[in-house]
Amino acid sequence: MSLLNKKEMKIPNHLAIILDGNGRWAVKKGLSRSIGHKVGANTMKEMITYSFSLGVKYLSLYCFSIDNFKREKQEVSYLLSLPDHYFNKYLDDLIKDDIKIIISGDISVLPTNSKLACEKAMFATKKCKAHILNICLNYGSKQEIIKACKQIAYEYKDNKIDISSLDEINFNNYLYSKDLPDIDLLIRTSNEKRLSNFMLYQMSYAELYFTKTLWPAFTKKDLQKAFIEFSRRKRRFGGV
Ligand code: IPE
Ligand code: IPE
Ligand code: MG
Repeated sequence: MSLLNKKEMKIPNHLAIILDGNGRWAVKKGLSRSIGHKVGANTMKEMITYSFSLGVKYLSLYCFSIDNFKREKQEVSYLLSLPDHYFNKYLDDLIKDDIKIIISGDISVLPTNSKLACEKAMFATKKCKAHILNICLNYGSKQEIIKACKQIAYEYKDNKIDISSLDEINFNNYLYSKDLPDIDLLIRTSNEKRLSNFMLYQMSYAELYFTKTLWPAFTKKDLQKAFIEFSRRKRRFGGV
């Protein structure tokens, strides 16, 4: 860990990444956007292993947004085939590394193979304890919050909850991320400085880090740089 002074280093407990720039990376090299997604999936595996080895406990990855359905059919269908390939290749490694997989988003609309691969991955890792990997697929933060509100309304109608006891802690129970603490650090690659409907509720006090590097070119050194910057931030949470 050459760039890091271990004593000064703070590792985010919950790291979230908007892995962006696959398409531009590929087009720059004269390749198809799908190749960018393929290489991006390799980067994803490398960063999962590396961030957990550095001490990250929870990792949330934005892999496919609800709005990504606006893309060309061919690209969408390639992207949605990736969970199947990914888990076939890596599920054993994830189990070996004691990583529990959760999926945020509506996977019911995924192609059958990918949907089954996601369900299998969640089931096979449900007792894993060392880390939680939250894969956001067909995910949108506003939609997640609305879904939670609807569920609360239904439970209220059925006399199952007391509205006066609802607070920002137990509201979490209605979110996909109910087993995860708030995000400490958000990294977005590819020089875009926006959140694109990603985990807005969970990011209330997250530190935001933007880098020009395109996701397929993102390396361990880039992750170290983000952690160094995170270590320098003074988090106040409204205090002084
Ligand atoms: C991120 O890369 C992956 C997804 C959004 C699915 P992009 O595909 O958005 O790549 P750019 O931003 O077009 O370069
Ligand atoms: C956000 O990236 C979604 C994912 C990384 C999965 P986009 O590339 O879809 O976001 P915009 O369109 O640049 O905001
Ligand atoms: Mg993009």
